[in-house]
Amino acid sequence: MDGNGRWAKQRGLPRIEGHRRGVEAVRTATYAARDLGVKMLTLYAFSAENWNRPKEEVGALMGLLELYLKKELETFVRDRVRLRTIGRTEGLPPGVQRLLAATIERTREFTDYTLVLALNYGSRSEILDAARAYAAAVGTGAERPGEATWASFSKYLYTASMPDPDLVIRTSGETRVSNFLLMQAAYAEFYFTPVLWPDFTKSDLAAAIADYSRRERRYGQTSEQLRPASSTT
Ligand code: FPP
Repeated sequence: MDGNGRWAKQRGLPRIEGHRRGVEAVRTATYAARDLGVKMLTLYAFSAENWNRPKEEVGALMGLLELYLKKELETFVRDRVRLRTIGRTEGLPPGVQRLLAATIERTREFTDYTLVLALNYGSRSEILDAARAYAAAVGTGAERPGEATWASFSKYLYTASMPDPDLVIRTSGETRVSNFLLMQAAYAEFYFTPVLWPDFTKSDLAAAIADYSRRERRYGQTSEQLRPASSTT
């Protein structure tokens, strides 16, 4: 969700104003995705590296997150939106952790649509955490390394029981992956747009999905294998 800072700068506003508008865009995207038939939307809201920003900006972002969760809890329950998180959430402020736990608990039965917030998330830390948990399971005899498969190992990632992303969108003209779902996005399609996150609307999301649906996902196969020429024309 890049571009909050630049959005604010273009208007001579403080960066935090851009983040505030970014939260509005989060609300828009959450419901736009659901209306467009998406089953799961993951938002990279705060990366493990974002702690390196100025202290005031980090504090303001955590404040916005807390306010957002307070406001959204009843809305998610009413609209049957399941909330989940990925990342080292134990590193977040205690107030945010409590709100997350309460929202996750109150929405856990909903199956139609899931919003995943990546918070204090980094793909490399996720892989390290998974490797540690896997090693512990080897220690108890629950896993045998010689028999490991991607399916058996990926259960230790934060995304266990979530499908891999089909489409990864990055806003504001940046074309980096920035430590986001490196393993899970192995076969994802990427879509880059110059639109700054606070300006990202439902029609921008629809355009990304339309672009995605025109692509051919081959998973290592050839076009001919996927679409054998029809003999009955
Ligand atoms: C990137 O823009 C954005 C972030 C690091 C924070 C995203 C956070 C929010 C939208 C608000 C909190 C989230 C939720 C779910 C309530 P940037 O600051 O890097 O913008 P720039 O690249 O233009 O400087």
